[in-house]
Amino acid sequence: MHCVRKVTDDLYWVGANEKRLHLFENIHPIEDGVSYNSYLLLDEKTVLFDTADWAVGRQFIENVEYVLDGRKLDYMVINHMEPDHCASMEEILLRYPEVTVVSTEKAYMLMQQFGFSVTDNFHQVQEGDTMSFGKHNVVFVEAPMVHWPEAMVTFDTTNGVLFSADAFGSFKSLDGVLFADEVNFDRDWLDEARRYYTNIVGKYGPHVMDLLGKAATIDIKMLCPLHGPVWRKDLGYILDKYVHWATYEPEEKGVLIAYASMYGNTESAAQILAAKLHEKGMHNLRMYDVSKTHQSYLIGEAFKYSHMALLAPTYNLNLFPPMESFMLDMQKLNLQKRVVGVVENGSWAPQSGVVMKEILDSMKQMTVLNEEVSVTSSVSKAVYDELDSLADSIIDSMKQDYKY
Ligand code: FEO
Repeated sequence: MHCVRKVTDDLYWVGANEKRLHLFENIHPIEDGVSYNSYLLLDEKTVLFDTADWAVGRQFIENVEYVLDGRKLDYMVINHMEPDHCASMEEILLRYPEVTVVSTEKAYMLMQQFGFSVTDNFHQVQEGDTMSFGKHNVVFVEAPMVHWPEAMVTFDTTNGVLFSADAFGSFKSLDGVLFADEVNFDRDWLDEARRYYTNIVGKYGPHVMDLLGKAATIDIKMLCPLHGPVWRKDLGYILDKYVHWATYEPEEKGVLIAYASMYGNTESAAQILAAKLHEKGMHNLRMYDVSKTHQSYLIGEAFKYSHMALLAPTYNLNLFPPMESFMLDMQKLNLQKRVVGVVENGSWAPQSGVVMKEILDSMKQMTVLNEEVSVTSSVSKAVYDELDSLADSIIDSMKQDYKY
């Protein structure tokens, strides 16, 4: 049975929710699912904006058939060719063989690579090209590396709707929701929107800023992303979040304490540091065991907070692997502009601090605080005092409005 929602008088959400998949892109846990959004415009011409993952293909096709209600499909605009959005293209091509596919040159290449039979029925567009579907006129805006090189967004100049591809998307299935103002987004969705953005698109901040620069020149009334809710109110809220994430500026003054601990001694140091920070008035603090927390969550938190404390034991005369993996992920995602306290542990040849600092040195505008703490097996009185000093140093750096 169909399950659709009306976005405007003549635009429908015809996407579907994925609640069975455990790992998005087979890497990121999605305990609350994800939506694959697709939109169908009923104008003088009928226009489908993107499709959906094949896993939800049956629901998606039912939705398209219901909204078309016997009309033929004239156009299929493909803003993004990653298979979570384009996989059902093939079924659309089979069911609506007269459809014209509209997308970029690079997207056409990907269509061939994925084996979709798009040839004469392809209409290539590039930056600034326009099309009219009757009442609605659209302009195409290239958005390379948001999140793949072929990506574009489509702006409906008639009603101000921006079909924004992966931009402004989020993890979590919609479960009946269509608009962001139907939920408490800040409380219930923001963490998952941040985790989606930072892990999927975080590396490409400058490209996202390019797109935001183009977006600032058009009068956007509504954001229709390919995942998560549609934005029709308070667009400044999500745009502000995107500016922070894309420029690697922290959203909040606060501390992410990420620790690794084999036998509980490094965790003890983390607990003492957390207690000292609270005692000294820093209550915006989250603490995670990197061995138990999927690093996609750690990445989201690292993008959120201004400060980090990283505590890890030495392992094979190197850094404990889950901490190394988390830190290398931060490095690959281009995280910058953070103040970091480092605490190492080693019973006979401590090395983890050296490796952590090497990784931090290879990142941009990361400040490692001078209070380096080295635990030898368990927390001594001297280390306890050093943790107290590290807490002071973290708080002092916040007061100084730290320049990285
Ligand atoms: Fe949701 Fe880059 O695909």
